[in-house]
Amino acid sequence: MALLPPSFVAALVSGLLVLWYVYSTLNAYLALRHFKGPWSSGFSRLWLLRANLGGRMNHEFRAVNDKYGKTARVGPQTLLTTDVALIKRMNGTRSDYRRSVWYNALRLHPTRDNITSHRDEQVHSRLRAQMTQGYSGKDVPDLEKDIDRCIEDFFALINRTYVSSEAEYVPFDLARLATFFSLDVISTVAFGKSFGFLDLNDDPFGYLPQLQTLLPAIIFFGVYPEIQKIMRLSWMQALLPKATDVNGVGRVMGFAKDVVAERFGEEKVVRRDMLGSFLKNGLTQDQLESETLTQVAAGSDSTATVIRMAIFLIASNPSVYNKVLEELDVAEAAGKLTRPVIRDSESRLLPYFQACVRETLRCYPPVTGQLAKQSPANGDHFNGMYIPPNTQIAWNSWGLMRTKEIFGDDVDVFRPERWLASGGHTPEELAHMEETVWMAFGWGRFGCLGRPVAQMEINKTIPELLMEYNFQIADPSNPFSVKCVGFFIHTDMFFRVSKRIRRESRTAT
Ligand code: HEM
Ligand SMILES: *[C@@H]1O[C@H](CO)[C@@H](O)[C@H](O)[C@H]1NC(C)=O
Ligand SMILES: *[C@@H]1O[C@H](CO)[C@@H](O)[C@H](O)[C@H]1NC(C)=O
Ligand SMILES: *[C@@H]1O[C@H](CO)[C@@H](O)[C@H](O)[C@H]1NC(C)=O
Ligand SMILES: *[C@@H]1O[C@H](CO)[C@@H](O)[C@H](O)[C@H]1NC(C)=O
Repeated sequence: MALLPPSFVAALVSGLLVLWYVYSTLNAYLALRHFKGPWSSGFSRLWLLRANLGGRMNHEFRAVNDKYGKTARVGPQTLLTTDVALIKRMNGTRSDYRRSVWYNALRLHPTRDNITSHRDEQVHSRLRAQMTQGYSGKDVPDLEKDIDRCIEDFFALINRTYVSSEAEYVPFDLARLATFFSLDVISTVAFGKSFGFLDLNDDPFGYLPQLQTLLPAIIFFGVYPEIQKIMRLSWMQALLPKATDVNGVGRVMGFAKDVVAERFGEEKVVRRDMLGSFLKNGLTQDQLESETLTQVAAGSDSTATVIRMAIFLIASNPSVYNKVLEELDVAEAAGKLTRPVIRDSESRLLPYFQACVRETLRCYPPVTGQLAKQSPANGDHFNGMYIPPNTQIAWNSWGLMRTKEIFGDDVDVFRPERWLASGGHTPEELAHMEETVWMAFGWGRFGCLGRPVAQMEINKTIPELLMEYNFQIADPSNPFSVKCVGFFIHTDMFFRVSKRIRRESRTAT
């Protein structure tokens, strides 16, 4: 080496690096060249980064699949799909798909995984099995009562603060209040202690603003997982939320740590809630701490999105609004609704309302991206196409729910009638629509564990809101702000709310 001048060595090394880069880029390009997509996506992740961080990920993704087909290329090793058959296939045991590196981004904690981020399928499915009972509500006898209590807290807050009168308009921000509500519900059913956002009518430790900055960080790391490794450096860890923080997500971590600690030791608290169920099924104190936080992160914004969008979509479509109120009034007059809070079992029997729920999930699936799975180590053949090993396959739920061949040509219209037997679809088509819309909760072994809790919240809260109050969009020219970063960040969704005067004695038929 002594014979070679240093500048020559440097040139040689950089030359080799460039060659290696060109070779691997070309390789990646060629491997997926039979899938069409935005031109730059064959050799760069910039398209994906821009789509992720631009705040319009749902629209960008939809446009790609509309233009390039059900499965399109969006990055050097990444496909994006709206293909129901492919989504189902990825769940099969024989196909051996697993979570891709994208899921590492859900691991905010530098060293510790939790159920949403585990990529080892064996570890993941064991954890799922230990937690299913708690999540399904089977181990939580007071689930419904707990939700009732939160609904009453919610309405008490609206009654005392947000009811407008002829003389006074009080802006009611449903974006913010639905999040408060869902945070109080999840803390109550998960560990028997409400965060108390509704009581305070405030976010005293800045949880919402911090979440709104963390979510974009998560999707950034989803595109560039290698950068996340830097986060393991100790100076970077100082930037992450931690349990000793007095504010934001860290404060919630601290809260979680405390409620978990109460379940251990001499004077331990024993409760039949989700935490109690996980404990009974063998989760350790460490695991419980991270899973508690996961429940809060996974279970609050998603449900809040459905609640606020259902009210918004119904309130902005007069014929729908009238019809759903009619159904509720008739059922109430016939004594078919428990007061003060409708039972889940009663809500199921309201066909038009349930059609509104499906239509809301279709128009506004709360979790949009990317949730990329990874193809098996020896690749896969699907539909006559070869998917090379370790290809990331992201889903596009917004596009999926707007597939014309499944839902009809009017996919952009909010039309609950499409879900009724009389809505113009054959029973077979309806069955396929049903199967597809519930994919909003994911699919099979990758699907949402909290679905029973979420659906119970939805089944009870939305009809009660509609029956108790009139909702009038405060500014139709600018109804709300939205940023889609995988989840939706909704802000400033103002309504004028007034108490509803029930129509006089209807006769039940
Ligand atoms: C309408 C509301 C909700 C929707 C649309 C929804 C949707 C989803 C989706 C799409 C996934 C990911 C599937 C994948 O990785 O491919 C997921 C996972 C998950 N959700 Fe939900 N979710 C909702 C509410 C909730 C609630 C209320 C909870 C908690 C009580 C919850 C807990 C979870 C958990 C723990 C996972 C991870 C499951 C696993 O890793 O195996 N979700 N959800
Ligand atoms: C809110 O006000 C309505 C009508 O005045 C009343 O029926 C309802 O019980 C109140 N709800 C709560 C939780 O205070
Ligand atoms: C677990 O995953 C969620 C994402 O769903 C993340 O927000 C949270 O910080 C993670 N918790 C820990 C302790 O790693
Ligand atoms: C997912 O795959 C498993 C294993 O093949 C199967 O038992 C399960 O029914 C599938 N789930 C769905 C929703 O298709
Ligand atoms: C909520 O209503 C739906 C009907 O669309 C029903 O399938 C579901 O069982 C109900 N409740 C829960 C907790 O899922």
